[in-house]
Amino acid sequence: MSSYDLIVIGAGPGGYVCAIRAAQLGLKVAVVEGRATLGGTCLNVGCIPSKALLHASHMYHEAGHNFEKMGLMGELPAIDWTVMQGYKAETVETNTKGIEFLFKKNKIDWIKGWGVIEGPGKVKVGDETHDAKNIAIATGSEPSPLKGVEVDNDAGVIVDSTGALVLAKIPETMVVIGAGVIGLELGSVYARLGTKVTVIEYLDAITPGMDADIQKQFQRTLTKQGLTFVLGAAVQSATAKDGQATVTYKLRKDDSEQQVEADVVLLATGRRPFLNGLGLEAAGVALTDRGQVAIDDHWRTNVPGIYAIGDAVAGPMLAHKAEDEGIAAAEVIAGKAGHVNYDVIPGVIYTSPEVASVGLTEAAAKETGRKVKVGKFPFMGNARAKALFQGDGFVKIIADADTDRVLGCHIIGPNAGEMIHEVCVAMEFGASAEDIAMTCHAHPTTSEAVREAALALGGGAIHV
Ligand code: NAI
Repeated sequence: MSSYDLIVIGAGPGGYVCAIRAAQLGLKVAVVEGRATLGGTCLNVGCIPSKALLHASHMYHEAGHNFEKMGLMGELPAIDWTVMQGYKAETVETNTKGIEFLFKKNKIDWIKGWGVIEGPGKVKVGDETHDAKNIAIATGSEPSPLKGVEVDNDAGVIVDSTGALVLAKIPETMVVIGAGVIGLELGSVYARLGTKVTVIEYLDAITPGMDADIQKQFQRTLTKQGLTFVLGAAVQSATAKDGQATVTYKLRKDDSEQQVEADVVLLATGRRPFLNGLGLEAAGVALTDRGQVAIDDHWRTNVPGIYAIGDAVAGPMLAHKAEDEGIAAAEVIAGKAGHVNYDVIPGVIYTSPEVASVGLTEAAAKETGRKVKVGKFPFMGNARAKALFQGDGFVKIIADADTDRVLGCHIIGPNAGEMIHEVCVAMEFGASAEDIAMTCHAHPTTSEAVREAALALGGGAIHV
């Protein structure tokens, strides 16, 4: 039996970052992780492998659609799915090994196995119980099931996001259930590789919660890329037979029942906290009515010395939100003032073009009752974007009409996931749109479009 200042359960972005920060602050730290490699969902079966496939499929798409326009003549490269899978696996491996290196560097013990909280300060892994002054629950999330849809990742016909990363071959047809982030990222991967992708979504718009202008433009762009959308449709069931799937859905407008067949069905209707077998009930840790670990504003559960962060608690299920909470919780545990600004957490969808947002949507800003102004700039007016064949899309900044303070920003366009951070920093500093507009931006960059949107909120954009 060993004794620690902090045992973190789960080595995803929330857990491993929490452990490193705690170790940097001088605490003796261990992380319990049952997977064969560190990094959790994000590194192993989420953000990182999907980004590898998005990159590879984007390159293929560019070769097929834009190379000739630039004088790069020749045949379309053939897809070797096995090699592409190998590239993805190698990308994952270098990252998970990187976390192992960071653990060694920071003298963090990796306790291999699945942890059970036996009570305050006690974590059982296998036959051994480890003592800790503090415990941080960072166990992440798992795909939510949908009634009538039986996922079998091994069979590879009805799969979730994990199964969709390791399909035996590129399917000819795919139905994606849910037009959220996972459905659209992975749907894009296969559409670019030649799969006929149909996305079935319950709501009347894709990407719930996003700014309405972005939703419309994004759907238009993805439709141009070959994805088919069936909106306002509730999936009732998906069944597999002889390697083929049948999806049954009901159109909300007239309640009519429809069916569609596909080689593969991807279930992407959300995720839920992964807390199975953790012993929370016996340990007396309270949950919210949505099944998340209940915490206060310092990531403390109701049981003294037990903290929780990341997808296991409320808030957006994003790796970087979990990381921020991990750092803040470690600081609180070490007696410092940890803080997360939940108003400035960017969200990015890594399709092409990328979609990125931070802060309030136009509708949400108006709902607060304040006077709101909107500055928009199309990438068609941005020289760099046009050279990249990415003139579709725009930057939209929402500001308070009275104070000019930036309240939110929504971008669909090239490098959106990188550009959003300039607005995040501006918002952290309580900047006005004029502050962004008066900041010199290098030319030619796609970031100039952010400045132009800010200019549109004042004296007017230049290149429109
Ligand atoms: P989501 O919550 O983003 O979207 C699920 C969609 O499924 C919703 O639009 C919902 O209306 C729809 N839906 C639910 N039931 C349905 C039914 N019976 N029939 C048709 N449609 C139905 O969930 P998703 O895409 O599974 O992602 C889960 C989490 O993972 C999210 O919190 C997301 O933010 C996170 N994630 C983030 C990524 C990123 O930041 N790039 C990448 C991947 C995941």
